[in-house]
Amino acid sequence: MPDIRAFVFDAYGTLFDVHSVVAACREVTSDPEALSREWRAKQLEYTWLRALMGRYEDFWEVTGSALRFALKRLKIAASEEQVNRFMAAYLSLQAFPEVSETLKTLHPRFPLAILSNGSPRMLQAAVQSSGLHPYLQHVLSVDTPKTYKPNPAVYDLAPKALGLAKETIAFVSSNSFDVIGAKAFGFQVVWCNRAKAPLDEMGITPDFTVARLDEIPKALGL
Ligand code: LAC
Repeated sequence: MPDIRAFVFDAYGTLFDVHSVVAACREVTSDPEALSREWRAKQLEYTWLRALMGRYEDFWEVTGSALRFALKRLKIAASEEQVNRFMAAYLSLQAFPEVSETLKTLHPRFPLAILSNGSPRMLQAAVQSSGLHPYLQHVLSVDTPKTYKPNPAVYDLAPKALGLAKETIAFVSSNSFDVIGAKAFGFQVVWCNRAKAPLDEMGITPDFTVARLDEIPKALGL
């Protein structure tokens, strides 16, 4: 059995289902998935650009800029009010169906935390709307180091907050770049590969792969 003393989770796509964001986009396009894909891709790209340039803006701002770009790129007309409504969907996200049970199972045995690109306000809103707050000891945001994943300064928030060595922390993410960044930092890493996606070719692989979070206890032999 691996020596694991705590679990740290990525937020968007791992704990929180951003499907409601897609649903909100349906009012301006017949292909909300395409808008959502473009929006998400730009959102991440902007975090990497801002981190490299040393021009941090919080994730709410980045998410808004990415949405405006995606609408322009796909030539979709949206009013300011609609843009605000799509953005607001980020504040009332639901967790994936198995998340609450999984955290409930792990929580008596391990401290649990979120470590995310999200701004503190976005994360608090999502934690409240999904009902996960009773299980989480820490909600850690990149807004403290003011840079973005996969900068090691972000991952370093978790061992500091938990008072544990990074090798004893299991980091769980569904985002391939985050899995690789977390492994490069030195966590034990669980890839929740919900989408059955191929892993990016960086020569770095996760320690465990699951399709849903409730497979974690068995996959890790806990
Ligand atoms: C996060 C993004 C990577 O929550 O999903 O940090």
